[in-house]
Amino acid sequence: MSGHERVVLAARVRKLEVSPTVAMAQRARLLTSQGIKVYNFAVGEPDQPTPPSIVAAACEAMKAGQTKYTPAAGLPALREAVAQRYRDSWGAPFVPDQVTITVGGKQALALLYMAILDRGSEVVVPTPCWPTFAEAARIAGGRPALLPLSEKNGFRLTARVLKRAIGPRTRAVLVNSPSNPTGAVVDPDELVAIARVARRHGLFLIFDDTYSHLIFREGGAPALDAVAEAAGENLVVTGTMSKAYCMTGWRIGWVIGSRHLAAACAALNSHSVQSTATFSQVAAAQALAGPQDVVRELAAQYRRRRDFMQPKIDALPGVVCPAPEGSFYLFPNVKRHLSKRMPDTVTLGTRLLEEKAVAVVPGEGFGAPGYFRLSCATSLEDLREGARRLADFFSGLVERSPGRR
Ligand SMILES: Cc1ncc(COP(=O)(O)O)c(C=O)c1O
Repeated sequence: MSGHERVVLAARVRKLEVSPTVAMAQRARLLTSQGIKVYNFAVGEPDQPTPPSIVAAACEAMKAGQTKYTPAAGLPALREAVAQRYRDSWGAPFVPDQVTITVGGKQALALLYMAILDRGSEVVVPTPCWPTFAEAARIAGGRPALLPLSEKNGFRLTARVLKRAIGPRTRAVLVNSPSNPTGAVVDPDELVAIARVARRHGLFLIFDDTYSHLIFREGGAPALDAVAEAAGENLVVTGTMSKAYCMTGWRIGWVIGSRHLAAACAALNSHSVQSTATFSQVAAAQALAGPQDVVRELAAQYRRRRDFMQPKIDALPGVVCPAPEGSFYLFPNVKRHLSKRMPDTVTLGTRLLEEKAVAVVPGEGFGAPGYFRLSCATSLEDLREGARRLADFFSGLVERSPGRR
């Protein structure tokens, strides 16, 4: 027996696997490295580079010697810029003391869960959901209480549905709007009602607003002042620079909550990551405080891509794909194509990649078998060719089993 076989890892990682969204993108990249042109709609990041003004700000910061540790809560200028942006964009009454800067939105969630979950505490996680919402809770010793949402209601969470999911161990409820993967946007009034329920039951309302600048429905943006008033200290917002500013690799995110929670998050940071990179923080502060044209242009571009792609996917034989209200994802229902020969969407996704060099993420990864997630964060040319290949694929399936049209 080699030494490796005797090594025992901790229980929390024994069943842990790489996130399925990352795994599919990795498989697509592997094919690309073998010289195959892959139409990769599995990636969850903007295809555009970071705006040059943000890159220049980081270079300047490095040259000016901004290369040392920052406070564990983040650079004061960035905490201020985050709070200010929420005040300007969403009317949220946040102040810098409530903000903790994190290593992207993923660490925001990890940190927050660590701060609020005891062993066995539950977080209500509506599904379909981004896999990390559930996995990060398990890693922190908690339990995700998965709450399946109805497709008929556009996968939107309501206060009524939430109430039924609250139990004695519930500590928090998670709302991600617009949602990854469905693109669903929670109704603003409903979010206030959810906030009231959370407060009444002494729960944290975790609002992940990663895609909040990408809302396409009129009146779909939440009035965070009303939500904050209804939830009080129970409101926690997790956010990131990654998507709206094309800064996935810069690793800037945040947790905004009560001062008490912010102090706990900073203490946790001080014993783990300390902070994210200093020059990333300087550049992010400037991006948030400067003109927001970049964000508006990006949102307009995603809207054009969604408008181009969604009708094409909805028109595929046996596929139903309503227009998402936000984010850059489509989440078509392909249940009519599942059969004994193709029992799940993992098989479907694998065949799609092997036969048509098109990568999507199977719904199983989001707790929603029978669907797949297609990201529109790719060029229009790739979307056009991808749509053609998907049409070939699904027409081929129908020809082989005509009953499935
Ligand atoms: C809903 C949601 N929240 C948070 C994140 C975290 O992003 P990052 O860690 O790049 O900030 C993502 C990334 O895909 C996401 O989809």
